[in-house]
Amino acid sequence: MKIGKGGYCGKKIEKICVFHKDRRRDTMKKDAFFDKMDALGLAMSFGDVRLKTGHTSILPADVDLSSRFSRNVPLKCPIVSSPMDTVTEHNMAIAMAKLGGLGIIHRGLSPKEQSTEVAKVKFYLNGLIKKPIFVKSDQSVGSVLRMIEEKGFSFRSFPVIDQAGNLVGIVTGNDFEFCTNLDVSIRAIMSQELLTTDENKPVEEVYEMMLKNKKKILPVVGKDGECAGMYIYSDIKRIMTGGSSQFNIDSNSNLRVGAAIGVGDDARERMELLSKKGVDLVVIDTAHGDTETAIATLKEIKKNYPGIDVVIGNISEGDSAVRLVEAGADGLRVGQGGGSICTTRIVAGIGCPQVTAVYNCSKAVRGSGVPICADGGIEYSGDITVALAAGAESVMLGKMLAGTEETPGDVIFRQGTAYKTYRGMGSLGAMQASKASRERYGQVSSDKDKLVPEGVEGVVPFKGDVGNIIFQNVGGLRSGMGYLGARTILELHEKSDFHRISGAGLSESHPHGIHMTEEAPNYKPIC
Ligand code: XMP
Repeated sequence: MKIGKGGYCGKKIEKICVFHKDRRRDTMKKDAFFDKMDALGLAMSFGDVRLKTGHTSILPADVDLSSRFSRNVPLKCPIVSSPMDTVTEHNMAIAMAKLGGLGIIHRGLSPKEQSTEVAKVKFYLNGLIKKPIFVKSDQSVGSVLRMIEEKGFSFRSFPVIDQAGNLVGIVTGNDFEFCTNLDVSIRAIMSQELLTTDENKPVEEVYEMMLKNKKKILPVVGKDGECAGMYIYSDIKRIMTGGSSQFNIDSNSNLRVGAAIGVGDDARERMELLSKKGVDLVVIDTAHGDTETAIATLKEIKKNYPGIDVVIGNISEGDSAVRLVEAGADGLRVGQGGGSICTTRIVAGIGCPQVTAVYNCSKAVRGSGVPICADGGIEYSGDITVALAAGAESVMLGKMLAGTEETPGDVIFRQGTAYKTYRGMGSLGAMQASKASRERYGQVSSDKDKLVPEGVEGVVPFKGDVGNIIFQNVGGLRSGMGYLGARTILELHEKSDFHRISGAGLSESHPHGIHMTEEAPNYKPIC
């Protein structure tokens, strides 16, 4: 394995070079800075550096924030919510995807619960329901109502097919409502005047058609007269009128979502269910991704599920990044022990300050086409600019998103102030509550009373809608890119250069010599 000046120069990566192909041998401005720091044996954290400004004609509004979390999973906003049990379940993942980012559903849930969470995100918009539930024209109304109850369906509209599988009608909630004899067949109550569409009509035209004809359901008829799907008006309306241009959606117009998995059997069991729900990518979620078991799991999933991207982590060294890319990773999650709730560096004595970790990993795999996500330790929007400038294509947030309405858990009050819980996945509470958390920290076979935590539990102030948090952070990032003259995240990688700052420089950077009387929406002193 060779890590050269301009990045990795091994053979295997040559083959998969797509993204930074032309740039793989280039030396970027920041390389000299990090080389100098490395020569002094210094690794940098967010508080140690600031970015050099440059000549610019880029206004914050001109900045293009499109990016990627993994090889094939794009982002319109380079922010991803962390798979933690106090951060990401379906509500957060839906909100993040609607804001152009992505949510990764945590694995403190059972495999079944987790895949249900994924399904809630995937089917939130339901552009085209490709496999609608059908009923047969000769079934009795009573038997269909029993099926709805048994399966817990929250909808009562179905396409109706005959014995040959041809579409012959539709039946809706109203038809069931006004039916007094449950023994009659579906044929007797269904509507046969069908407005249908074909598989190739753009969603805008489908919306117009449903609006004009006042149809709540529009079946899609395939080439041979078979029912090839169904549109529901309320879903299409949500896509068309809900600011959808910013939504992070897949080719079926469904929101994108990821899910965390473990290694070995945990990964196998979860993959089986998640793949059926259409998950866009999975994250092998371990405290240390550069292990035999994690790599074996990565290879197995890539072989068995070639259509699903696999991001793996966490790591913080360049050699680890190269090993994982060679093993087939589609994305790398970088950061060990830098998170707000982490005690790994203190308990285990390992780790690399985050800015250097991100730089080293990204430099090591420069040219491979595999993006880096900077995970943990982000306190301010400026840290996002720094993490991306160091070489990441996205950032993962825990604490910044914790306490918002969209996180799991209730609002709690302490002396009149509203809070929500936020805890590390390696905290005692999280490890006692879930085998997955114990596994993440290599303590799956330990007695629940004999755990060695690598994280803490706490509360953060209740912050309301996550959209406001993302708005401020994206605003800060746009501003930073404007100061550097970087129109895109790739330009930010190329143009960025760093100052090493002292303690005095950091104090000067924060407000000083003033008693703040008004809260700023994007600034709080670190407590
Ligand atoms: P922030 O700073 O955004 O960090 O709150 C979130 C990231 O921290 C990692 N994480 C942990 N690391 N012990 C650790 O050492 C833990 O208990 C723990 N829980 C989460 C994780 O990478 C997350 O995205």
